[in-house]
Amino acid sequence: MWSVAQPTVPGAGALVRAPDDLPRRYRRGVARRPVPRPLTRRAHVSGPVVWSEATRSALYGHGGFYHRPQGPAGHFRTSVHASPLFASAVAALLARLDDAMGHPDRLDLVDVGAGRGELLGQVLDGLRGGGSLAARVRLAGVDLAQRPPDLDQTVGWSADLPEHVVGLVVANEWLDNVPVDVVEAGPDGPRRVMVDPASGEESPGGPIGLRDAAWLSQWWPLDGVPLGWRAEVGFPRDLAWAAAVRCLDRGVALAVDYGHLLADRATGGYAGGTMAGYRDGRRVRPVPDGSCDITAHVAVDSCAAAGVSAGADSTVMLTQREALAQVQAPVPAGARDQLLHRSQLSELVDPDGLGSFTWLVQSVGLGGWQPLTGPT
Ligand SMILES: C[S@@+](CC[C@H](N)C(=O)[O-])C[C@H]1O[C@@H](n2cnc3c(N)ncnc32)[C@H](O)[C@@H]1O
Repeated sequence: MWSVAQPTVPGAGALVRAPDDLPRRYRRGVARRPVPRPLTRRAHVSGPVVWSEATRSALYGHGGFYHRPQGPAGHFRTSVHASPLFASAVAALLARLDDAMGHPDRLDLVDVGAGRGELLGQVLDGLRGGGSLAARVRLAGVDLAQRPPDLDQTVGWSADLPEHVVGLVVANEWLDNVPVDVVEAGPDGPRRVMVDPASGEESPGGPIGLRDAAWLSQWWPLDGVPLGWRAEVGFPRDLAWAAAVRCLDRGVALAVDYGHLLADRATGGYAGGTMAGYRDGRRVRPVPDGSCDITAHVAVDSCAAAGVSAGADSTVMLTQREALAQVQAPVPAGARDQLLHRSQLSELVDPDGLGSFTWLVQSVGLGGWQPLTGPT
């Protein structure tokens, strides 16, 4: 099964990372599986370099943006920060999966790109209400950043994916932070776009390699397009997502991110590229000097195909708005709580913001069972 909803483009929410001026934004005795990760540990690279190298260093190098104390929440707002209703939805998904799997002795919830562990903390709080799931669930965060000091001791934490996950793998706004290269249509075909990490100034680079060319021809074709049209080469995200899907023995992998699809990319919908910077709650020029987040929209269809190659036997793509209509926390009883609930939910389902994010849901080893239905 593969149903595809067209994600709309995130709008101008002030703190939500979603470029608004674009044409259309787990250790405990178990084996580990490395997430495809930054190769460089240098604090700074000197330019010009390809965008992926500059981004790796800026975000994940020594002292890089994501190793700073503030964490993602200090600079922008994800669904996790916006409302605990997002964690409730993840918990509801986990409960559905638990039912479908016949209540196994152990059920994993692995949060990849877990930030400061906020989602896991919220899910844990929700589970404290009781039920058999609370005793069987094993929570784990995967992030390049250090284990958050205030994270509950029962929650595992590692820079690498675990092996043999039985349960749910979640990646909220992870893939958009997996560094990619930028290329543009030049007079002699697609060429690399180089960037000076200190200034963010770009310059034309040499011809692209075979791997980039193969990915582009399938997922973001630049043949015959006007000079200067840009593309962001998404295969590092495909590799990252495939690794997350592959760690599942049985279960579901969920990526939530701002995405785009081939039909729009191929027709120039993102010809200007989607690279963006975020700092202190504002969108800023993407200068890969470590002072700001560097992010780009995710080619979710390409990631989905990589997930299938990694063993997923069922795929659904839908918007967060559509997904939350299917997995929602119960409306509370009191009038004030109802008001709060409505306002928090409205941010999560805003069609011009977080509501337009894509939920890529892929199942492994469940006979094609899916926790959510795709759009009709
Ligand atoms: C935008 S933040 C999202 C944090 C959290 N999921 C949330 O919704 O608030 C992206 C996170 O992905 C992490 N990350 C990026 N690449 C990673 C990798 N290869 N392995 C593990 N974590 C990674 C970053 O360190 C950062 O904490």
